[in-house]
Formats: sequence, C-alpha cells, structure tokens
Amino acid sequence: MTWTLSPMPSATPNPSAPRIVLGVAGGIAAYKSVELLRLLRDKGYHVAPVLTPDATRFVGAVTFSALASEPARTSLFGDPTTPIPHTYLGAHCALVVVAPATAHLIARYAMGLADDLLTATLLATRAPVLLCPAMHTEMWEQPSVQENLATLRRRGVLVLEPEAGHLAGGDEGTGRLVEPARIAELVDKIVKGYRGALTGVRVLISAGGTREAIDPVRVLSNRSSGRQGYALAEVACRMGARVTLVSTVSLALSIDTVNAIEVVAVESAVELHDAMLKRSPMNDCVIMAAAVADFTLKAAGEKLKKREGPPELHLELSPDVLADLVAHRPKGQIIVGFAAETDNVVENGQLKLREKGVDLLVVNDVSAPGVGFEHSTNEVILLEPASEPERVSLRSKEAISWEILARVAALLPPRAP
Ligand code: CTP
Repeated sequence: MTWTLSPMPSATPNPSAPRIVLGVAGGIAAYKSVELLRLLRDKGYHVAPVLTPDATRFVGAVTFSALASEPARTSLFGDPTTPIPHTYLGAHCALVVVAPATAHLIARYAMGLADDLLTATLLATRAPVLLCPAMHTEMWEQPSVQENLATLRRRGVLVLEPEAGHLAGGDEGTGRLVEPARIAELVDKIVKGYRGALTGVRVLISAGGTREAIDPVRVLSNRSSGRQGYALAEVACRMGARVTLVSTVSLALSIDTVNAIEVVAVESAVELHDAMLKRSPMNDCVIMAAAVADFTLKAAGEKLKKREGPPELHLELSPDVLADLVAHRPKGQIIVGFAAETDNVVENGQLKLREKGVDLLVVNDVSAPGVGFEHSTNEVILLEPASEPERVSLRSKEAISWEILARVAALLPPRAP
C-alpha cells in the first residue's frame, strides 16, 4: 500500500491545535470514521488519519485526506515527509483514537505486533489511546476478544464499548460502533484531562439491590443488577482512584481492575448501611448507586409453610444509608446519590437533591426504554445544587460512569500535585 498524497487537506492546519491520530481498521463501521474526522476537525483538532490496508477496502484514503489536517497515511513505507512515520505520529499527538477497532486490530495491539503503520504507531506512542471496538456480537462476546481488551485496559488503554443496535447484514446485537458524536465528545474530555483525574482519590461505591430475608429461603428485593455500580468502580479505578465496592451482587471485574478494587459483599439494607458507614470516613468520595430496600422485616427463623396460608409481613423502614452518610460526612467529602424516578423526573430529582443534601444526584428515568435496572445502557440527568440539569443521553453504563466521575473530579477540593 502506498502513501497517499492527494488531494490536499481541506483547510490550513493550525500548528497549535492538539494533534489527534485517528486510526481506522478494516470494518464496515469505517464509514463512520469519516464523520468522526469531521467532528474532530470542527472541535479544532489537528487530525492525522492512519488507515490499515483493510480499512481502505471500505473507505478510500482520499476521502480522509480531503477532510483531514494532513494527508491520510496507509503505510509504514514511502512517506515523503518522514522516513519513520510511526514514531513521528506517536510522539506528536495528544491522543490516538482507533474507530473502528476490529477484533483483529485489538488482537494485534494486545500481542504487541507492529505489522502496519497503525499498530506500529500504537506501540510507539506514549499518548493516551482510546479504542472504539465494532464487530458482530458473536465476535464481541468471544473470550479472546474480551481478554485482549482486558489486557489492553490493564496497560492503560481506554475502551469505549460498542452499543447494541443494527449491525451489518441486517443483524441486531451488541457490537455497533458508538456514534461519532459521542466518540468526539469523549476524545475532547480525555484530551482535556480525564485520565488520572482521580489519581490517589479514595472512592467508596455501593452497588446492587439489597435483599431482605423473609425466612431462610425467601427474600424481598428489587430489580437492580449492580451493573452501574460495577461500571463506576471500574472506571474510577481506571481514572486512578483507590476503590472500595460494597455490593449485594458479585459480577465479573475485568483483568485490569480485579486486583485493584476491594469488594465487600453484603446482602441486606442494614448490612449495606453498616459497611458503608464504617468505611466512609476513610474515603474522599462516596457514591450510593445501590438500590436500597426502603422496607425491611424481621425474618422468620424457619421456612414459612404454604399449608399455613399466605403470611402477614410486617414491614418496617430500613435505615436511610445516604441520609446517614450525609449526616456523618467528613469535611470535604463528595457524596453522590442516585434517584430512580418514573414521572416528573427532573422536578422529583431536584426535590431529592435538596432533601438528601448530596453534591451530585444522578437521576434515572427507569420507565424509559434501555434505562436503569437490568440494562447494559443507561440515560441519566445530572443534578448539582448550583448548576443547570445536564442530560447524558443513552449510552453504555461505562460511558455514563465517565461522565459521573468527571463531575466528581471537578467537585473534589484541589489536591497537591
Ligand atoms: N437510599 C439509601 N437508603 C435507603 C433508600 C435509598 O441510601 N433506605 C439511597 C439510594 O442508594 C439512592 C438514593 O438514596 O442513592 C435515592 O434512592 P431512591 O430510591 O430514589 O429514593 P428514596 O429516598 O428511597 O425515595 P423514594 O423511593 O420514595 O423515591
């Protein structure tokens, strides 16, 4: 594959603009990278596209060259401007974003292969790297793909997980490239300082729905899967925080976070209350993502028998964990609450924000499609006492976590460098 020189880039490059290397691997979603390129240019970035040879089977380098800040590169060899393009590109960029990142590209990167310009640049750079995978669901779910991503994450690579939706060939499922506007938004945030934004910060997070025993067999519970709390814990860890996760469920943590996150198992509202209150004084930030049962009961010592008819359950209020955390908060601690609402979402959220006395309230409209309990995606409204509400549109729980934790980073008192 030869170095593509023409046509000339669409606008005069701005020498002081942060440089982004836009890597494009050979998948059908490569057509969306053209839009991503345009959006990054609109945000003022200097964009240098690097296409794998297979990417050019989907979209021609000429299309990228026409929109980019410099001609698209497709090969390690034959670049008239520099004989070693990978080290040049790697050293002179604020970020490398690969969109789409195919299973093959991810595997080569995880293996440390450098058999084309894009993988060589990925190895040569010390800048943050953001991978935006896109592939068919069957491929995405392969343990090999997930393990390669976990390896890369452990090394500090950021991954923007694909979304569920239409795939090539009329299929449906998880594996669709995240919309270019969201990728551009995240690129912007990473360049402006996401990574390391919580270095040294101690974060305590609760996850899952509490289970209140009726008898030794039965429980009263709710629909919380714990996924949002787990995503928050993993992203906080990737942002540099020391994380303790108090959880009623046990989900798999990826290889890069599993040894770094302390997980404390609890079941009931009282157990969760005690675990959180005990650890809160040692933390700079507490996030109550758990769905705590508002009502609990005295469990029967033995299994209630059907022949004795439906039992009368005497419910009583369980402790309000968040209220107690706020009441006993150490000076300077940031407290984040969640709110599950089904109607008048913003108004009810504002009311809860004031009543709970938290610094940030994450409001879910749990009646909306794809939102809240039992979904891998979420859509939230972020409320702070002195700011306008911010709607964070439907995206993976991981991507939602970046938004929440960026707010936390901004709220924390300044730390010594
Ligand atoms: N929460 C808590 N302890 C409880 C109930 C809720 O710590 N016993 C926390 C949740 O973890 C969440 C926040 O309070 O961060 C709001 O939870 P939500 O269920 O929306 O509000 P409630 O206060 O329970 O009010 P309601 O259910 O009446 O809307």
